This record gives sequence, C-alpha cells and structure tokens, in this order.
Amino acid sequence: MTTPTEPSLDLGELTVRLRPAAEPDVELFQRMAVEPGLIGLDWGGFRDAGAPARRFATDGYLGPDDGRLMIDVGADQGAAGFVGWTRGVYAGQAGYWEIGVVLLPEWRGRGVGWRAQALLCDYLFRHTPAQRIQAATHAENVAEQKSLRKAGFTLEGVIRAAEFRDGQWRDGHLYSRLRDDPAPL
Ligand SMILES: CC(C)(COP(=O)(O)OP(=O)(O)OC[C@H]1O[C@@H](n2cnc3c(N)ncnc32)[C@H](O)[C@@H]1OP(=O)(O)O)[C@@H](O)C(=O)NCCC(=O)NCCS
Repeated sequence: MTTPTEPSLDLGELTVRLRPAAEPDVELFQRMAVEPGLIGLDWGGFRDAGAPARRFATDGYLGPDDGRLMIDVGADQGAAGFVGWTRGVYAGQAGYWEIGVVLLPEWRGRGVGWRAQALLCDYLFRHTPAQRIQAATHAENVAEQKSLRKAGFTLEGVIRAAEFRDGQWRDGHLYSRLRDDPAPL
C-alpha cells in the first residue's frame, strides 16, 4: 500500500508544500502575536503569546472548525508562513471555509502566496465536503488580491466597514472559489 501524500507546487528551485504544525513552529505563532506588523495589515495589537503553545498542545492546530498548516518551501528551511481556515455558515446546515495566509516578510513577492492558497483549496476540497471557500482582504492589499485571483478566486464585492483596524473602520474585498470553479494552472 502506498502512503497518501498531499500535493505540492513547484516554484523553480523551490517546492511549496503544506504540512501540519510541529512544536518548533509555535515560536513563529508567538512572534506573530507580539511583533507589531509581522503579520502585515492584520496586526491588531498585542495578543496573548501563551495562546499558541496552549492551542498546539490541544490539537496541533487541526480542529474540527478551524485549523492551520505550515507553508514549507524546502527541506532545510524553516516554515515560510502558514495558511489557516475557519468554518462559517450563511444558512442551513452546511458551512463554508474562510481562509487566510501569512508569509514571513522574506518570503513575500516570490510566488509562494498564491500557490499556498491554491494548495489549501485543493486540501479542503479533497478532505471536506465544502462547496465554497471564501477569503476577505483589505482594499489596499494588492498582493493578496492578485494572489487570490491567481489561486482561482473571484471577487464577489466590497463589504463596507468590514473591520476596525488601525484606528478606523475599513472596507473589505470578499473573494470566493467554489468546488466547481476552474483550478489555476
Ligand atoms: C499577501 C501575500 C500572502 C501574497 O503572497 P506573495 O507570495 O507575496 O504574492 P505572490 O508572489 O504570489 O504574488 C501574487 C501577485 O501579487 C503581486 N504582488 C506581490 N507583492 C506585491 C505588492 N507588494 N504590491 C503589488 N503587487 C504585489 C505579484 O507581482 C503577483 O502578481 P503577478 O502575477 O501579476 O506578477 C503575502 O505578501 C503576505 O503574506 N503578506 C502579509 C500578510 C497578508 O497580507 N496576508 C493576507 C491578509 S488578507
């Protein structure tokens, strides 16, 4: 019997892969809780730096209603960042996933972001029955808007006053990819 493997995507000399968090990755989550701006525009002030170790000890960041996977770009490199998902429900019984992504600054602008989000869609469509995956981003986050389009997402519209961030209420851009939408590449 062969061992099942999850897909990966080539990026020249690098291969982008998703994998579960391991104990050394907790430090990255801790840094993101207390280093202003490391997570980009989603920085919302200091968070409990003890929370990542508690969450990792509980379920390794793989819960029934949300989860995270680390983004690896090579065997000998540490994680380049992570992708995450949270369950949501608009109506009825069946839910959707809302996804997010954060790369460390040194890994941004190198084609990792859209590939990681495309791999996460493949993963969620393969292992859960969700029909819809959505992602919201900031009006000024051109990199994420392009990255989502490259990962097969479609802009649905602008959510007015979607979030309070950096002293103001701000609009969000909502994207989605459905199970039957064409995959990228
Ligand atoms: C947003 C993010 C995930 C995008 O991933 P990335 O690997 O940096 O982006 P990619 O290299 O895949 O580039 C995707 C597209 O965006 C463009 N792009 C990248 N950085 C850009 C920037 N700063 N400004 C404008 N366009 C940019 C790329 O040129 C590419 O477009 P192209 O194919 O037309 O050339 C990453 O930059 C990141 O982690 N940022 C901080 C956290 C964040 O904002 N997360 C999303 C929160 S909603």
